[in-house]
Amino acid sequence: MSDTTPFLDQQLISGSLYGNQQRLAARTGALLSAKTSGRSAAEVISALALQACSSVGGLVLDIGCGRGASTVALARSLPRSRVLALDASAALLVAARHRLQQSGWQAATIQADFHQLPLPAGRAELAVAAFCLYHSPRPRRVLQEIARCMAPGGTVILATKSADSYAALDRLVAASGLDPQAETRPSLYGTFHSGNITALAASVLTVHDVRHETHRFRFHDLAHASAYLATSPKYRLPPGLSGNPTAFAERLSERLPDGPIETTSEVSYLAATVPG
Ligand SMILES: C[S@@+](CC[C@H](N)C(=O)[O-])C[C@H]1O[C@@H](n2cnc3c(N)ncnc32)[C@H](O)[C@@H]1O
Repeated sequence: MSDTTPFLDQQLISGSLYGNQQRLAARTGALLSAKTSGRSAAEVISALALQACSSVGGLVLDIGCGRGASTVALARSLPRSRVLALDASAALLVAARHRLQQSGWQAATIQADFHQLPLPAGRAELAVAAFCLYHSPRPRRVLQEIARCMAPGGTVILATKSADSYAALDRLVAASGLDPQAETRPSLYGTFHSGNITALAASVLTVHDVRHETHRFRFHDLAHASAYLATSPKYRLPPGLSGNPTAFAERLSERLPDGPIETTSEVSYLAATVPG
């Protein structure tokens, strides 16, 4: 693991960070069940995609597709397109295929690194890269690689979150003493976030639309927050806590009063086209 930024460690990303889909599902489930406001990202992305795609049989890329939530939403919204979902993690591609199968919608899937897409130049009508470019130490390089694959005038939709997302959870972990440096650990969104998405995209693409939305979360108690926190590689925790929400919650409740925890995240969406 990298010493400071586990989120940029490609071995960790294609291995254990996203290697256990149950763990990721539990983490995402805890976050979604705490959400009190904010539109579904897959729905916002599909609506933007619908505006961009008109041709029959056009190639649509879902880059860093993860467990396939956006892939299914794209396949459903663009039934006349060919959707290709790409991800570095073999385990998440298995989950994405399963989700597609369950949904009845069609998309091809392929394991690939977004720094070197195994695609010919100039073919894609639309590319979506949602909540994944922050895993690159060089997101501009990835944007150039995506632009290479796009047909003239093709649309690129990007999504990310603010670097200070879920800051109240960092404060909680720091206050508990389980990781006193929690608030200064590198953000998951450090290289590609709401604050630099527009400038980075504009250095490669022609930006048409940028939207920032605040999402709000209310974890009902320490146990609920622990279901999310225990799976974060962000913190340096005492042995036995990482990946163990029950033990994490016990240690938190020894040190902090129990009760609801509120936090926010800014979610940013950008639509751009390939110049020329
Ligand atoms: C938070 S998930 C996002 C999944 C999905 N786009 C969504 O919106 O739900 C981040 C994804 O980026 C993928 N990823 C990270 N680095 C990658 C790389 N170099 N190439 C391809 N995918 C990568 C991870 O494997 C993971 O599936």
